Parts: sequence; structure tokens; C-alpha cells
Amino acid sequence: MILTIEDLKVHYRSRRGAVQAVDGADLSVPKGQIMGLVGESGCGKTTLARAIMGVLPRNGLLAGGKIHFDGRELRARDESALRALRWRDISFIPQSAMNSLDPVYRVGDQLKEVLVQRGGYARERATERSVELFGLVGLDPARLRDYPHQFSGGMRQRAAIALALALDPKLIIADEPVTALDVIVQRQILDTLKELQRQLRLSVLLVTHDISVVAYVCDQVAVMYAGRVVESGPAQVVLTRPFHPYTMGLYNAFPDLERATGELTPIEGSPPDLRTPPEGCRFEARCPFAVSDCGKAPALEEIEQGHQVACWRAGEAVQLREQAAEVSTWQRS
Ligand SMILES: Nc1ncnc2c1ncn2[C@@H]1O[C@H](COP(=O)(O)OP(=O)(O)OP(=O)(O)O)[C@@H](O)[C@H]1O
Ligand code: SF4
Ligand SMILES: [Mg+2]
Repeated sequence: MILTIEDLKVHYRSRRGAVQAVDGADLSVPKGQIMGLVGESGCGKTTLARAIMGVLPRNGLLAGGKIHFDGRELRARDESALRALRWRDISFIPQSAMNSLDPVYRVGDQLKEVLVQRGGYARERATERSVELFGLVGLDPARLRDYPHQFSGGMRQRAAIALALALDPKLIIADEPVTALDVIVQRQILDTLKELQRQLRLSVLLVTHDISVVAYVCDQVAVMYAGRVVESGPAQVVLTRPFHPYTMGLYNAFPDLERATGELTPIEGSPPDLRTPPEGCRFEARCPFAVSDCGKAPALEEIEQGHQVACWRAGEAVQLREQAAEVSTWQRS
């Protein structure tokens, strides 16, 4: 494993009480693979990614847990230790690529800045490396002289990937790298990412709300709901034989990137308010399979090798899967 997170807790101070945005999340990213972190809007994906990077907003607080990175244990509370890993060991592509590019500087100058200031490159060598990086991500090196606004959305995203690759990090965390793009450009960027990952043997944590992105490009997946990881394992296994009702529901709710599918079934209702999360299973209010036991919180447990699930009814997954495939199961009466 390149990265292991245990019982991570991140809270935000707010006037109306603390938001427990990540509340006991467990996650392991294997070396040399792409791991997807998927879940609906507001379930804490960006918060988790930013906590690993040590770049939480001011009102964010690492409230507990452990982070192991490449054989080292970092105390989750020690934000300065996390910051020291930035760029060189772990790099980050933020949720909007515009956030990683400064509009007033040429893209090439921003790339050189990272290489010189953080990587200790000599100017000349930084120029060569910038050309190389643009080539790697499929951008014409002549465009290094452009400003970000002269790039299309897809090109900006490629530039953000080039920035992330600049110092040969061991792990790249990409937060929704293709979300704002049309499906064709999404596939092109994901193809580039996959190719680079293979070529450079990168480890990638890819954050997305779109399970079809996971199906298209990820080796492993962790499904997050209301601040916790509820299922994780090999992507192929988790997506075709899910054990958690939330994963079953997510799969029904998204179109496939590769082929047109039939009707989509939404999961009705919305995630709980993370200022006052329910004590039991956090999916209970929306789960068609909830039983009285679900008033207690299920722990994430290994159900088969490499496959973890947090659900009291995981042992009945075969029957639940059959029911989950019926649209009526998800319709509230
Ligand atoms: N700076 C902040 N202050 C207070 N609450 C915040 C802050 N940032 C996020 N939150 C809250 O924390 C929770 C998790 O947010 P986060 O952005 O991590 O979710 P996400 O899974 O990345 O969602 P999305 O798919 O929309 O990007 C949400 O309830 C959100 O409203
Ligand atoms: S623990 Fe209960 S409520 Fe939670 S997902 Fe499983 S069946 Fe549904
Ligand atoms: Mg987010």
C-alpha cells in the first residue's frame, strides 16, 4: 500500500455547529494502481483528499485518525508533516483545474515555477522538463506560452495533470478531474491518465461522484457515504457484485460511459446533515433494506479477500442485489 488511512476524522467549524465531514473513514490505496473514491455530492470526498494533502480550509480541523504513507506513519493531526509531502511525494489536482492554474501567469511559467521553486531545477532544465511534461499529457509545447484562459477546459485539465506530474510524485490525488467536461473529452483525459499511470507506474486516488468513471478507469474503488467508507475493493468486483445497498443504488443511478444503458433509477432522498449524523447506519433513511439492527452503526469488515463492507445485511447480498435491480425497490410508496 502506498497510502493507508485509519479512522480519519475531519470537522469544519461553522456557526450552526461542527460539520463532521469525514467521520471515521478507512481507506487503503495500493501501489501502482488507480483507486476511485466515489460517492454523492457532500459525502466528504474533497475533505478527505484535502486532509491527506494538508490543505484544508481555515475552518477545517483534522480531529483524529492515522495516515500511513509509503512506510511512514504520519499523525493525522500533524499538518506540517503532511504539507512537507506536497508536490514531491503526493501531488494534488484540485476539483476545478482553474484552482491549480493562476489566470495572470503563462501556463509554462507556472510549470517552471513548481520545478524551480519546489523541485530545485535549474531554469534551463526546467524549460526542457516543461516541454517533456506537455508532451506526456498530450499538449503542444508551443502552448506553454499561453495563459490559462486561452486553453479549453480539457486542455486546462491536461495542464493541471502536467503540474501534478512535475516532480515525479509517488501518489497523485485527482479531485473530480473530468467532471466539468463533455463525455468525449472525459474519455480522452481518462485515457491519458490511465496511459500515464501505466507508463510511470503511478499510484492515483481519483475522486469522483460518477461511478461510470470508476468503471472506466479504476483498478480499486472505495465508496463513501456521509463521511465514511461503506464498501471498498477491486473495482470490477465491487461494481459487478456489490455488497452494500448504497453501491447497488449508485450503480443504478448512473449512465455508463462506454455504452448507453436503459432507464436510470435515482436513490430517493438525500444524505444526512453532517452536523447531526444518525447514530446507526448512515444510509438507513434511504435504504430499501433497512431492518431494526440498522439503528446501530455497522463497522467496515472484510467480506471476502480484499473486499470490505459496512452493512448488517452483507451476508444476504445475493438476494438484495436481485431486489436492487428492480426499479420498484427504490421507489418510495
Ligand atoms: N469549508 C467548509 N465549511 C463548512 N462545511 C464544509 C466546508 N467544506 C465542505 N463542507 C461540508 O462538508 C461536507 C463534505 O463536503 P465535501 O466538499 O468534502 O464533499 P464532496 O463529497 O467532495 O462533495 P462534491 O461531490 O459536491 O464535491 C458537506 O456537508 C459540505 O457542506
Ligand atoms: S446496515 Fe441496514 S440500513 Fe445500512 S445499508 Fe445495510 S441494510 Fe441498509
Ligand atoms: Mg468534492
